[in-house]
Amino acid sequence: MSKIIRVEKWHDVIYSMWIKAPQIAMKVQPGQFIILMIDEKGERIPLTVADYNREEGWVQVVFQTAGTSTMKLTQMSIGDELFSFVGPLGKPSEIKKYGTVITIGGGTGIACVHPITRALKEAGNKVIAILGARTKELIIMEEEMQEASTELNITTDDGSYMRKGFVTEVLKEILQREKNVRKVWAIGPAIMMKATCAVVKPFGIDVIVSLNAIMVDGTGMCGSCRVTVDGQTKHTCVDGPEFNGHLVDWREFMNRLKRYTELEKLSLKMYEKQCQRK
Ligand code: NAD
Ligand code: FES
Repeated sequence: MSKIIRVEKWHDVIYSMWIKAPQIAMKVQPGQFIILMIDEKGERIPLTVADYNREEGWVQVVFQTAGTSTMKLTQMSIGDELFSFVGPLGKPSEIKKYGTVITIGGGTGIACVHPITRALKEAGNKVIAILGARTKELIIMEEEMQEASTELNITTDDGSYMRKGFVTEVLKEILQREKNVRKVWAIGPAIMMKATCAVVKPFGIDVIVSLNAIMVDGTGMCGSCRVTVDGQTKHTCVDGPEFNGHLVDWREFMNRLKRYTELEKLSLKMYEKQCQRK
């Protein structure tokens, strides 16, 4: 059992939770994720770690309500215990001194890119961060990202805050201006990660993406999270979640992300009906 020690609602659909998990906090590295279960019969929810504190023994996650399980998670409060909180899972980001690097976070992907950005800066890199969301209220962790990066750029699709447009537009400008960018990290919706790869490709720079494949066991046994990278089958939970974005089969990945959409809608409808009856 892992106790929830802090909960914040950042937006109608975005929540952050701090979980007491000393052993995970001690070991976790940027880029890794956890899998939590609300109760014994619950779905396993994989979430990338947004922050952690080794001395205080907590791990922070950020999630967006998308289906029944994340809706149930929003009903939990301080002092409640999660049935399970397993991690750290996946391979850590390759943090070293590259020179100049760019980190991009789209929507709740901003939370995932935060520890990576901070670690890259601590390793001596010049880290140019780009954050993007549909509208001002959906830009999260701005202060933390300001501190974690060397230069922070913010875009909103509707122009309600900072630059109007997608993250890829600012990225293009930065790549034209900065001649020594060594690597790019992009975490967010699949379409954003794919578009980032397309923008970066002509510059001959590597792009690392973090794939949010649908997971079940998280140990490489079930095959749910399989993706094709460079023509080879990989399991996101054990071989990733980070991969070279230029080598990902984006068509397959995006199709596989949609495979439970109808069932998820049905499950959410049933859950909402149950809540109304209570
Ligand atoms: P969103 O659709 O609002 O997009 C966020 C940002 O991505 C946009 O503001 C824009 O700058 C960029 N973007 C979107 N479409 C683009 C396009 N066609 N070309 C270029 N840039 C584009 O995102 P959201 O609704 O906040 O949803 C977050 C998504 O991120 C969810 O689908 C979630 O599953 C995913 N996510 C992924 C990870 C991961 O590990 N990859 C982590 C957290 C969240
Ligand atoms: Fe089952 Fe990755 S989640 S193999």
